[in-house]
Amino acid sequence: MKDFISVNDVPDINNLVQDALHYKNNPMVDKNLGYAKTIGLIFLNPSLRTRLSTQKAAMQLGMNVMVMNMDKEGWSLETQEGVVMDHNTVEHIKEAAGVMGKYCDIIGIRSFPKLIDREEDYSEDFFLKFKKYAGVPIVSLESATRHPLQSLADIITISEQTQHKDPKKVKVVLTWAPHIKPLPQAVANSFSEWAVKAGFDFTITHPKGYELAPVFAKNAHVEHDQQKALEGADFIYVKNWSSYNDYGKVLTADSNWMLTDMKIKNTNQAKVMHCLPVRRGIELSDEILDGPNSLVLQQAENRVWGCQAVLKNILKTL
Ligand code: CP
Repeated sequence: MKDFISVNDVPDINNLVQDALHYKNNPMVDKNLGYAKTIGLIFLNPSLRTRLSTQKAAMQLGMNVMVMNMDKEGWSLETQEGVVMDHNTVEHIKEAAGVMGKYCDIIGIRSFPKLIDREEDYSEDFFLKFKKYAGVPIVSLESATRHPLQSLADIITISEQTQHKDPKKVKVVLTWAPHIKPLPQAVANSFSEWAVKAGFDFTITHPKGYELAPVFAKNAHVEHDQQKALEGADFIYVKNWSSYNDYGKVLTADSNWMLTDMKIKNTNQAKVMHCLPVRRGIELSDEILDGPNSLVLQQAENRVWGCQAVLKNILKTL
């Protein structure tokens, strides 16, 4: 694997999941693999899980880790070609990414969408330019449209629970949840493409107007009636996202969409997932988060093992 930006960079999901589970049982088995190699983790947005799990994964492979909160500690970056930089941007992405590529063997980068201009966000302009000018393998720590390290951890979590069950017989439902702020579609987009590729019986449910981009939802079953969608579910992935069609807008915050214990009654005792951070009482009820059906901490733990598997596969190509 040369980069890890989307599921399309992964030759075989099952092999990657097996690598991750191997690390879960043997965290230090490759403790020298990353000797004298440096990973730089560049954050343009806040993070708890991605930041700590990626550091831990890299350290367990013996890598040096450098972390930079680019939004607070770095110069403001210019991304446009040929502009006279006589306003607020101080450094061009050509030099900034190029310099980081000289210091690092692998770069992880987080860059959220602005949720203003859909075309700009979905072109992944910043991410692709950063990759081009850095010239080293890139790991997405969440881009404008995808969060593949989260999706990998989610697939690992489902695999652990279902063991060797035929994925076609595992019903996974992604349900939209209310939120007070407009959030990116990245987690939902990414989970959809990974769930489809993993071969699950996969349904997305959301209020009308919250359709995901066709490229991400095209192979999923979409059901607008949440209760109908949840019937027989084995796993329910709860996530808010803002509108793709009315780009970046919050169209409703209808609290009837919040998942409660009552709604789980018609499922196959479904396990409940969320990438975190979660707003209690808005996206998910306390009773679910504190109850036996919640997998949120397992998902967060699996971020380490998934990332360790990704870094191993990239290190082997260096
Ligand atoms: N799920 C996730 O990516 O968490 P952070 O934003 O805290 O990294």
